[in-house]
Amino acid sequence: MKVIITADHAGMTVRNEVKDLLEEMGIEYEDTGCSCESSVDYPDYALPAAERIAKGEFDRGIFICGTGIGMSIAANKVKGIRCALTHDVYSAKLTRQHNDSNVLALGERVVGPGLAREIAKVWLETAFDGGRHANRIGKIGTYEDK
Ligand code: RB5
Repeated sequence: MKVIITADHAGMTVRNEVKDLLEEMGIEYEDTGCSCESSVDYPDYALPAAERIAKGEFDRGIFICGTGIGMSIAANKVKGIRCALTHDVYSAKLTRQHNDSNVLALGERVVGPGLAREIAKVWLETAFDGGRHANRIGKIGTYEDK
């Protein structure tokens, strides 16, 4: 699996925690987050990273900002992206099993680095269930193709 990780200035700590996790798990990743010397605009990070997933350059992404909301709104504008803003372990598991989410959005001002790590770990380890859920995702793809 290849993962792209990105973050704005409000996601620095969680971004570093998730990078440590990816290294521990032996997962290949690229970090396109800001250098964070000043305030930046989250769409400038979310949109290019999401496009690279949509093109097939990466399998999944983890996008971090203050709340995770801006990153998730921007990412979900890109065709083929299913970004889940997730702040608990149960949702992290279910959004992989049921939604086949290919981007996880996290908010550093909402969850601390410890919980963010647990959420990211479960999200990375959980497979899509397929079956009836594939049919439902297919309906979103059909809408996107209209
Ligand atoms: C930055 O202050 C903050 O607005 C951003 O990180 C994010 O939370 C937006 O949704």
